[in-house]
Amino acid sequence: MKEIQQKFQVSYSLPVIFTRDVFGADNKILAELLSKTGRRNRILIVLDSNVFNATPKLLDKIEQYASRHGDVMEFVSPPFIIKGGEACKKDMSEVDKIHALIDKYHLCRHSFILVIGGGAVLDAAGYAAATAHRGIRLIRMPTTTLSQNDAGVGVKNAVNAFGRKNFLGTFAPPFAIINDFDFLNTLPKRTLRAGIAEAVKVALIKDKAFFDFLYDERQRLASFEPDVMEKMIIRCAELHIEHIGTSGDPFEYGSSRPLDFGHWSAHKMEELTGGKIQHGEAVAAGIALDSLYSFHTGLINELELRKIFSLLEDIGFELFHWSLSWMDINSALREFQEHLGGRLTIPLLNGIGNRIDINEIDAALLKKCVNTLSETAEGKERRHASGKRADAGKRGSRKILP
Ligand SMILES: NC(=O)c1ccc[n+]([C@@H]2O[C@H](COP(=O)([O-])OP(=O)(O)OC[C@H]3O[C@@H](n4cnc5c(N)ncnc54)[C@H](O)[C@@H]3O)[C@@H](O)[C@H]2O)c1
Ligand SMILES: [Zn+2]
Repeated sequence: MKEIQQKFQVSYSLPVIFTRDVFGADNKILAELLSKTGRRNRILIVLDSNVFNATPKLLDKIEQYASRHGDVMEFVSPPFIIKGGEACKKDMSEVDKIHALIDKYHLCRHSFILVIGGGAVLDAAGYAAATAHRGIRLIRMPTTTLSQNDAGVGVKNAVNAFGRKNFLGTFAPPFAIINDFDFLNTLPKRTLRAGIAEAVKVALIKDKAFFDFLYDERQRLASFEPDVMEKMIIRCAELHIEHIGTSGDPFEYGSSRPLDFGHWSAHKMEELTGGKIQHGEAVAAGIALDSLYSFHTGLINELELRKIFSLLEDIGFELFHWSLSWMDINSALREFQEHLGGRLTIPLLNGIGNRIDINEIDAALLKKCVNTLSETAEGKERRHASGKRADAGKRGSRKILP
């Protein structure tokens, strides 16, 4: 009998670059990144259909950029316009099309996929890139608030299967991430807002000063003032990427997933609504629920809970979504546990700016929290219907508290 034990380490470096007008005449960021390979790079572009529709001149600009920097880049084909939003993750057909293009144009492991789009498109194209030839280099250009501050700056990708979110996916760090704030200009307000939920999430579990910043600037965030949006995105991305680099578990081998505060229910809400609720909106409602549970278990105090609810509501989020009432809490928790592996581990708050992992959840108390949020939302709607709109949100959150 013989056993061989060989340890090895792999080191990654993950640049996240913030810019504007990435394909502009004076912008050399992409060309400089590509020049690091020391040769001319073959690239397939995968472009979110809604970015394509919203930015008619984008393809021309990309073409011109490529001709200016022909020494480091060449496109193997016209961009592949992929169905934007959750549609590209719902089944494998879009991923299959990318695989087919990789095969048709003979991309190798040293070629690049440059994906431009929201979190869903980044996930689907990232999955296609990671699985073809066991991994083609990927450059991500996130185009939504959520993907610039969270989904695009991580190491994961996924598509949905068997009716379950992110059932198929891999951990595959991209070559680089380029966050161009100008992409946000064409986003509908709803999507622009949704991503702010991830900043609230990461501030709550990691950085009280960032939470205070978001709280103080909540009115300006609500009107999407560019300077405060940019600061929010940069700090949020920084906290996410720092977590990946320093948590000791970038590929989530453990059972704890701290960055998923408020997410066990959010993923279920997305499934139950068939993707009608946006990820960030579901996260906002998930944060409200887990914050209320944290309050009832003595982990945060009343003032902290009030501040969290005011921040979410003032930004424009609903604290409750009807799909929560339909949810079988025990099976949702079981599925979350199954997805992460090992023991049930739910991140909760331990004051603002700190998290604590909980291995046992009182499902009855959680259900009570759902009911409280639901009743408050109904009350708010009734007041709206009877024309008493003024300050409805604030009165709503006050009623939640004893
Ligand atoms: N891999 C990860 O670590 C990770 C982390 C968080 C979320 N996610 C995933 O990200 C997805 C959500 O991402 P999202 O919030 O960016 O939503 P999204 O990708 O669904 O985009 C929302 C909508 O905006 C459109 N769009 C994107 N950019 C646009 C632009 N610049 N102008 C106009 N329209 C534009 C999209 O086509 C889509 O219709 C979910 O599938 C979620 O599971 C992944
Ligand atoms: Zn998320």
